[in-house]
Amino acid sequence: MTPPYTRIAELSARAGEVVRVRGWITHLRSSGKVAFAVMRDGSGTLQCVLVKSSIPAETWERFSTLTQETTIEVTGEVRPDARAPGGFELAVSELVIFGQAAPDYPIQPKEHGIDFLLDHRHLWLRSERQRAIARVRHEVEQAIRDFFYCRDFTLVDTPILTAAIGERSGLFATDYFDEGQAYLAQTGQLYGEAAAAALGRIYCFGPTFRAEKSKTRRHLTEFWMVEPEVAFNDSNDNMRLQEEFVSYVVGRTVERRRTELDVLERDVSRLETVTPPFPRIDYSEAVTILQGKGSSIQWGNDLGAEDETVLVEGRDRPVFVFNYPRAAKAFYMKENPADPRTVLCNDCLAPEGYGEIIGGSQREDDYDKLLRRIEEENLPLDAYGWYLDLRRYGTFVHSGFGLGLERTVAWICGLPHLREAIAFPRMMNRLRP
Ligand code: 4AD
Ligand code: MG
Repeated sequence: MTPPYTRIAELSARAGEVVRVRGWITHLRSSGKVAFAVMRDGSGTLQCVLVKSSIPAETWERFSTLTQETTIEVTGEVRPDARAPGGFELAVSELVIFGQAAPDYPIQPKEHGIDFLLDHRHLWLRSERQRAIARVRHEVEQAIRDFFYCRDFTLVDTPILTAAIGERSGLFATDYFDEGQAYLAQTGQLYGEAAAAALGRIYCFGPTFRAEKSKTRRHLTEFWMVEPEVAFNDSNDNMRLQEEFVSYVVGRTVERRRTELDVLERDVSRLETVTPPFPRIDYSEAVTILQGKGSSIQWGNDLGAEDETVLVEGRDRPVFVFNYPRAAKAFYMKENPADPRTVLCNDCLAPEGYGEIIGGSQREDDYDKLLRRIEEENLPLDAYGWYLDLRRYGTFVHSGFGLGLERTVAWICGLPHLREAIAFPRMMNRLRP
């Protein structure tokens, strides 16, 4: 009878049994009489021990042909060993090679330059740190979905190919049959607003695209954004939802991905303090604070990255900056009745210099005001007619926000740059692999 095929993570239930394990070799070492092969199968790491005197000669010979990243299947007894990774090792009786790796595996335990690593991103993903990041991202995504599912939000998938609509920054265009140009979506929000009038509470979650010529550590040209939209929520309700949401996602990830955060050497005490309520700073107050600290910001400007860092300095949780000047923000934000120079909106700034992770607002629900804003911004009316319709047929107070997934993952993991927060980053100068 062939021994059962077992994943490394499940070996603890099979102590004393003979099993088969499949995976990739990460380290090799031999004393001439005893050899060790450490392997990885995605679920864990396993040390395999081969003793020359107790295995067939051809199996011992085969060991000597192994190279890093060769794919193998080993058969052997599962033995508890306190020093081994995972607490078990495998006493190998049989070794099969599935795929011999070329001897020049490019990623080695030494300092590689970032461009080299990004050029080899398809292989770099196999390293321990990158696997830890992938699992944190996976947890964050699942936490996002669970949060909204449990609150009865309906997931609505919005289009990626759109007519010219969205935020202000650059659009990626492509030819679209007889319709002229199509643009890759910068946001699903406007479609989300239409869906909110049908379903009440919705969210969309998918890739979004910005042809921004910014080479900063906070910008990708393709990033994932989750965007809830809630009928009858005003701007304050919107901030309350954001602080509950962010706190849930962070708390859940710390709870379930401690091992991965330890691999990343993340100081989780900086995340454990992330609970509602988050401090709220009015935009005008923020400008005063910043000017007091030497910033050159003038009332009317958007906050720069440096300003954002200053505002969260010394704080143990994210901060909301609310009600920005109209000119600094998108056309769809609702005019602030108390000060029409501003709009009812907020950014959510993460601590530790991670900057804006959320942009949110109450939406302009007045047909005439929205039309005026569209005209002021010289936006193509034919592309926005349907959006104005939402104000003609049963307009309603509504709010929503967009959380950038990579910025959130970078913050939770403590990554210096967004490029490691997604499997295959797309940046101005990077389209491969
Ligand atoms: O502030 P933004 O542009 O807001 C919107 O797109 C709204 N339509 C959201 C809404 O109200 N439904 O973007 C939202 C978030 C930012 O806070 C940031 O986290 C992320 O998306 N983001 C980026 N992430 C990576 N690379 C970029 N180039 C990003 N641009 C925005
Ligand atoms: Mg923004």
